[in-house]
Amino acid sequence: MSDPTPAHSIETMLLEERTYPPPADFAAQANARGDIYDVPFEEFWEREGRERLTWFEAFNELYEWEPPYAKWYLGGKLNVCFNCVDRHVEAGAGEQVAFHWEGEPDGETRTITYADLQRDVVRFANALKKLGVRKGTPVAIYMGMVPELPVAMLACTRLGAPHTVVFGGFSADSLSGRMNDMKCEVLITQDEAWRRGSTVPLKKVADEAMADAPAAKSCVVLRRTGNDVPMQEGRDHWWHELEADCSDDAESCPCEPMDSEDLLFLMYTSGTTAKPKGIIHTTAGYLTGVAATHNYIFDLKPDSDVYWCAADIGWITGHSYIVYGPLCNRTTSVLYEGTPDFPDKDRWWSIVEKYKVTILYTAPTAIRSHMKWGPEFAQQHDLSSLRLLGSVGEPINPEAWIWYRENIGADRTPIVDTWWQTETGMILITPLPGITTLKPGSATRPFPGVDAGIYDEQGNEVGPGGGGYLVLKKPWPAMLRGIFGDDERYRETYWSRYEDVYLAGDGARIDRDGDFWLLGRIDDVMNVSGHRISTIEVESALVDHHDVAEAAVCSRADAVTGEAIVAYVTLKGGADGSVEKLEELRNHVAEKIGPIAKPANIVFTPELPKTRSGKIMRRLLRDVANNRQLGDTTTLADPTVVSEIAKRATEEKSEDA
Ligand code: WT7
Repeated sequence: MSDPTPAHSIETMLLEERTYPPPADFAAQANARGDIYDVPFEEFWEREGRERLTWFEAFNELYEWEPPYAKWYLGGKLNVCFNCVDRHVEAGAGEQVAFHWEGEPDGETRTITYADLQRDVVRFANALKKLGVRKGTPVAIYMGMVPELPVAMLACTRLGAPHTVVFGGFSADSLSGRMNDMKCEVLITQDEAWRRGSTVPLKKVADEAMADAPAAKSCVVLRRTGNDVPMQEGRDHWWHELEADCSDDAESCPCEPMDSEDLLFLMYTSGTTAKPKGIIHTTAGYLTGVAATHNYIFDLKPDSDVYWCAADIGWITGHSYIVYGPLCNRTTSVLYEGTPDFPDKDRWWSIVEKYKVTILYTAPTAIRSHMKWGPEFAQQHDLSSLRLLGSVGEPINPEAWIWYRENIGADRTPIVDTWWQTETGMILITPLPGITTLKPGSATRPFPGVDAGIYDEQGNEVGPGGGGYLVLKKPWPAMLRGIFGDDERYRETYWSRYEDVYLAGDGARIDRDGDFWLLGRIDDVMNVSGHRISTIEVESALVDHHDVAEAAVCSRADAVTGEAIVAYVTLKGGADGSVEKLEELRNHVAEKIGPIAKPANIVFTPELPKTRSGKIMRRLLRDVANNRQLGDTTTLADPTVVSEIAKRATEEKSEDA
């Protein structure tokens, strides 16, 4: 078999023999059947837009494409909160459960119906109005996985206030950086969050961030753990006090009619420079895209399914597939506050059993953790309610795919391996569970109405059997509308390699059946536990430490997190590293960015490998980190540097052992 990416060819040849056609009973009842792939692009999205959403005013033009900017459903007026909440209540589904919330401390649960959700959202939206939040006011949200998080997001959308949700694991610097970029006027947070039995001091971090974010005039604080936190008179407001005198009657706070292209939210994501990119998502195209994909890919049946996306709402997965897509489709979801191993490693499976979860969507890194812990934890519980499994965040190893299917899906459920990005807003490459023949490790095919391809260096589309760069050749409704405040970076990042074609930044292959196999990032962006972290961001955090002269960061393969961060650090004045210094630097990175960005290893070195023009050769560092034979070293200014580093890295490993 001819293959431009030989490293993967052997694996792929083996894989292609294992195929899983859709079970007949699943296919017979599936939301996506028959000729869905044959519906022309415009007809498909026209119909989805019209039928899936409720419009205050119909759109009059499907889309406008002036590369690299698209607009969708032009002329339409609608409100996201109305589509996700009010219309379901008006249609008589008020008593249906929207969220089965499970707190981390065992036994703590809340059942939130659509009618409850509407009351909670209206009351809180009225509270936000008291702080001056109205159409267009940017709001930051920094919370854990509590029901008030979706309530806060929906309250913003009800008022037409764009939000940015910042993952609760991010540092004060990361939070204030985002707040300043968006010029947020209000921050919504909570006293503390629960995590693995201990508390995470969100308000404390929020205070540090507020001190650096001058546009933010007010802070709303939800009481979650009940522990004491400092409150600043005039600036800080307890959630429950602020809303105490507010009406929860929908008519007291009507849903703001928004234009299809009005800003819905920004989601910041890592790129190849230190500054995270504020990815712009707008109203109608985003909601249509996430609702349509959620319906067909997860085969969602609003009257009978119990759906659980076990991601965090602070990432795009949670926005699209916990909050907006599922609520728009009137889904009953599970929302879980904590970690998979608290109080024990069977926690997830006890939740599946308790709520009779039918659809579970998670990430390969989580699946690999469960694999490591062993199948006995899943075996303690009745998982027979499950009928569909999903995966997202990175390529799923065939071994993990098979484990997931056999141990969680009873060797019976289809698995949808869904490829997408913060930028794409919605899933773009994925099986449809009633139609697609699955192959472990392949995300299979572009979703209907999505035009994806694989290009070689020259911009020619490669045929079956070939490999290259994944591109999108046509716009799609939920696509990013740019990078907030940085048109140039938007054009440069996604649109400069090929003309008028979106560069995803992932390598991919297409096999002889036309199925796509994703091969990981092509840029200096690492994927740790399914989250993007740029090498330069971690390098900047390290160099920010007063003892560090220079740092280079790359990733190595890791059995659980997919990739793990390895840092090569030169200390000032040629000082030697120590175990204490190592911990200090790791903590410094956690403080600057967040614990997810902590390097797994730090190698101290008097010199970094550089080209004669002074560029750090990360490629060689990657070879060292992965114990691979070194690639071409001829362009190095000083070829001895890298062998010295390799020696130090090995020494460090033997010390670990
Ligand atoms: C990057 C996007 C979209 C939600 C989670 C991550 C990788 C994502 C898959 C998959 C192979 C995948 C890609 C992509 N990725 N899903 N099913 N198979 N790779 O969002 O942080 O924007 O990261 O995650 O490399 O570019 P994100």
